[in-house]
Amino acid sequence: MITKKKNLIRFICLSFGLGTIMPAFSQFPSDTINLNESRVIPYTLPDVLRMTDGTRVKTAGQWMNVQRPFIYHLFEENIYGRFPPAVPVRYRVRESDRDALGGLAIRKQVRLFLNPGDTTVFADVLLYLPKNKKGPVPVFLGLNFNGNATIINDPSVFLSERLVFPQYRIRNTDSSRGTKSSRWPVKEILSNGMGIVTACYSDFEEDRPEGWRTGIRTTLQDLLKTKPDEWGAIGAWAWGLSRIMDYLEKDKEVNAGKVAVMGLSRLGKTALWAGASDTRFGIVISNESGEGGAALARRWYGETVKKINTSFPYWFVSKYKTYNDEVGALPVDQHELLALIAPRPLYVASAENDQWSDPKGEFLSAVHAAPVYALFGKQGLGTDIMPAVNHPIGHRIAYHIRTGIHDITFYDWEQYIKFAKEQWGIK
Ligand code: GCU
Repeated sequence: MITKKKNLIRFICLSFGLGTIMPAFSQFPSDTINLNESRVIPYTLPDVLRMTDGTRVKTAGQWMNVQRPFIYHLFEENIYGRFPPAVPVRYRVRESDRDALGGLAIRKQVRLFLNPGDTTVFADVLLYLPKNKKGPVPVFLGLNFNGNATIINDPSVFLSERLVFPQYRIRNTDSSRGTKSSRWPVKEILSNGMGIVTACYSDFEEDRPEGWRTGIRTTLQDLLKTKPDEWGAIGAWAWGLSRIMDYLEKDKEVNAGKVAVMGLSRLGKTALWAGASDTRFGIVISNESGEGGAALARRWYGETVKKINTSFPYWFVSKYKTYNDEVGALPVDQHELLALIAPRPLYVASAENDQWSDPKGEFLSAVHAAPVYALFGKQGLGTDIMPAVNHPIGHRIAYHIRTGIHDITFYDWEQYIKFAKEQWGIK
């Protein structure tokens, strides 16, 4: 009865374009995708600082010791699943060249073995480090979609031995080389004194409904004492990033205290979950991560929880689906995922023609993470007014919305490089 009444009021408000004055019900019409700002229904976000006993977090210590673990656990339980503990990672340098890219870079290709018992479970990591830089260098770390050889046209990069995204029927060939290089401005990164580290996300789990059967959720289940359905594909990819971090800690040419984890889209969701789960990541960058990433779940705009759970059920745990028709019942919202990064620097980026990812929802999420940064004396975005396109803003949390479509572009990278240099005092 109550639901019927709510639906009637909702119907009247929406029919007359009165979405913004509508009562704050916890749920929007979950089967409908809304791309009209005037139809957004008011919502109430969980207060990131309110503890279970009703009092509010007042100190950084309370956040770190009490509230942060509590909220982190809610994300594990309700969305991404268990983040298994580390395993001892062995590695073998398959190839290295101290004079790569015409003398610009040191290239290394390293195979990580994730199962101490054998060599069948592995991930292939590609590193380019600036050649003329003394001492360990800061790096960007991001997974790639299509294989390491696609990030740059360098004939020495090994072709992936896996089937690759999106079809999973094909393998990389010589003609795949550099096909995604617009997303990886390697030379620009190197010339700014930083390195780039990547691996293909298929090395941990192929991005398809049955991918878990051959990925680490199955092959490492005994070792990790975690059943495949206790975590999702995003969890597996994020855990993989942590294992790459284990290697980076051993590589004396990399400054493991300065690793910026980044990713686009589903790999942006992955970067955020990795950054929340593993505090060794010094900067976290979300490039158009959208639903299940930076975008607020309770805001009815663009992709919805129901939609993502229908299209990509294997990315998350099954409990997430129980919120499909009642997002307001989710004990967390995505601003709290961003808050888990505090006090580390965080960059959230959107694109104007990527409304599916809900740029405003990504921006507002960053706004609402700021109270946690304030506990550490760090300023977040410093405003709650969405900036104009191509006008990056922020302090310890930064944000931009650029012109263009869903992608990662040179413009995005220019901002990330600038941000990393500022945050880390790189000249
Ligand atoms: C789909 C999906 C998004 C995701 C995106 C991507 O559009 O709905 O949630 O971010 O793919 O990964 O490119």
